[in-house]
Amino acid sequence: MNIGIIGCGTIGSELAKSIEKFNGVSIVALCDVDEEKAKKLLLQLSTKPQIVGIDKLIEISELVIESASKHIVKEVAEKTLFKGKDLMIMSVGGLIGNDPHISAPIYEHIFKLAEKNNCKLYIPSGAICGLDGVNSASIGKINSVTLTTTKPPKALEGAPYIVKNKINLNTITTKTIIFEGSALEAVDAFPANINVAASLSIAGIGAEKTKVKIVADPNTGKNMHEIVVEGVFGKLTTSTENLPSPNNPKTSYLAVLSAISMVKKIVGNVKVGN
Ligand SMILES: NC(=O)c1ccc[n+]([C@@H]2O[C@H](COP(=O)([O-])OP(=O)(O)OC[C@H]3O[C@@H](n4cnc5c(N)ncnc54)[C@H](O)[C@@H]3O)[C@@H](O)[C@H]2O)c1
Repeated sequence: MNIGIIGCGTIGSELAKSIEKFNGVSIVALCDVDEEKAKKLLLQLSTKPQIVGIDKLIEISELVIESASKHIVKEVAEKTLFKGKDLMIMSVGGLIGNDPHISAPIYEHIFKLAEKNNCKLYIPSGAICGLDGVNSASIGKINSVTLTTTKPPKALEGAPYIVKNKINLNTITTKTIIFEGSALEAVDAFPANINVAASLSIAGIGAEKTKVKIVADPNTGKNMHEIVVEGVFGKLTTSTENLPSPNNPKTSYLAVLSAISMVKKIVGNVKVGN
């Protein structure tokens, strides 16, 4: 499978270095807005992909992997699917929210394009666990989905919701709920937290119905995500305590591993779990 990677940062680089060893994988193209990042990655690969722009990358790839930014997700998805190529998206936050030019939520528009052009669209679990159960549960009726994300106060610094409400994170001495709202509201309030909320919303009951709680805990150094889902199947609870990836404290290491695992599933012969 000829693979092109858009975004040669933490996820893109670790992913490329791992998957080039998989049977049947050939990395043919790299793209990054910062060409130095693509060049640096190229030097670490034993295969020699071309460094190209987005359009050329899509042209020569069978599977396009986006690991760049939520701001390019819609453009990359439309171009890739229109060309009949498969796509894996890491910046899942770019799929939720509304776009003034389309009536449905962005992900519904993109899913329809994938169907129309007979392409596969892959969204890895990223930094959370439990999407296998949510996928199964969504075949029946799900009544509620809640994501509680707990972070050290300093990890929430600069979030638009914190700035707008003039919340002084330095005064927090005990575990404190900072925000409660829908995943859709969380898009603008806490954009850095949006990937996990987006994946969960898409797998479950949508961004308007998925509840998100953001908790500041001065006694933790980790980013934690707890998911509770209730439906006709019963109740599901998962808890993930993430360590940061070695090269980027903002990206949970599990998200990197999840991307690699997804490619392994795509090219592999055995698929375990939903
Ligand atoms: N699904 C999840 O759970 C999850 C978890 C962590 C990160 N992410 C998302 O995955 C993406 C990559 O994460 P990362 O940790 O590798 O980030 P990173 O900042 O380390 O790397 C991103 C790379 O993309 C490049 N880039 C940015 N905009 C671009 C554009 N318009 N065109 C081409 N290249 C561009 C940057 O120059 C950089 O090299 C981010 O959007 C991040 O939010 C998702």
